Amino acid sequence: MRLDKLIGSVTDLSRAMAKRAIREGAVTVDGAVVRDPAADVGAETAVTLDGRPLRAVGPRYFMLHKPAGVVCAARDRLHQTVLDLLPDEDNVETLHVAGRLDIDTTGLVLLTDDGKWSHRVTSPRHRTEKHYLVTTAEPIDASVAGQFERGLFLHNEKRRLLPARLEQLAPCRARVIIAEGKYHQVKRMFAAVGNAVLELHRERIGAVALDPTLPEGGYRPLTAMEVSALASAPESAAEEA
Ligand code: URA
Repeated sequence: MRLDKLIGSVTDLSRAMAKRAIREGAVTVDGAVVRDPAADVGAETAVTLDGRPLRAVGPRYFMLHKPAGVVCAARDRLHQTVLDLLPDEDNVETLHVAGRLDIDTTGLVLLTDDGKWSHRVTSPRHRTEKHYLVTTAEPIDASVAGQFERGLFLHNEKRRLLPARLEQLAPCRARVIIAEGKYHQVKRMFAAVGNAVLELHRERIGAVALDPTLPEGGYRPLTAMEVSALASAPESAAEEA
């Protein structure tokens, strides 16, 4: 993209004002002053105007390590929201959650302002796998993995769930991998087999794992690889729920 066009698109300067600023030497590209408004700049180029780095506008993608007690909503009168945990970002109200967690569930939450991308991540058509660590009230019966694999029928659902995998880690602890995201799905799956979930933690969505260096409440932008890995999940023939 031309340098004057880039500046015009990420600041409130008109194209003519951007050209003038460039010619006056107010703009650096990768550390060096550039006076040619037609200079070509790529997405990764570092551009400053009057010494301040310019941030590209465009879709934003973050991962957040959600603590318990925080809600996946834009606003809440009683509780802290996931957006409250991104105080350093501009215009957080334009972000939304791609796959909500319950208030008491911890772990990986994805936030973006790219509706098409979040639809891809959450649509059951794409069968993006979500990995959860589950702690249960009672020991998990040996028959449960098979029942999950065959697809449970949950109360008030018209269709059987997609097959889910259960890896037993301890008598009351398991990793459960589901390919859709129905309301309270994991808790309802355990309730359907006569058990109860005490703790629930999401550790992965598709190719993107919760960054182990992120403390609870911490967040970071997704890398370009993470964004594209989730955008390129193959579409299955499954019906939309
Ligand atoms: N399943 C649940 O029951 N709760 C969550 O927060 C996520 C999946």
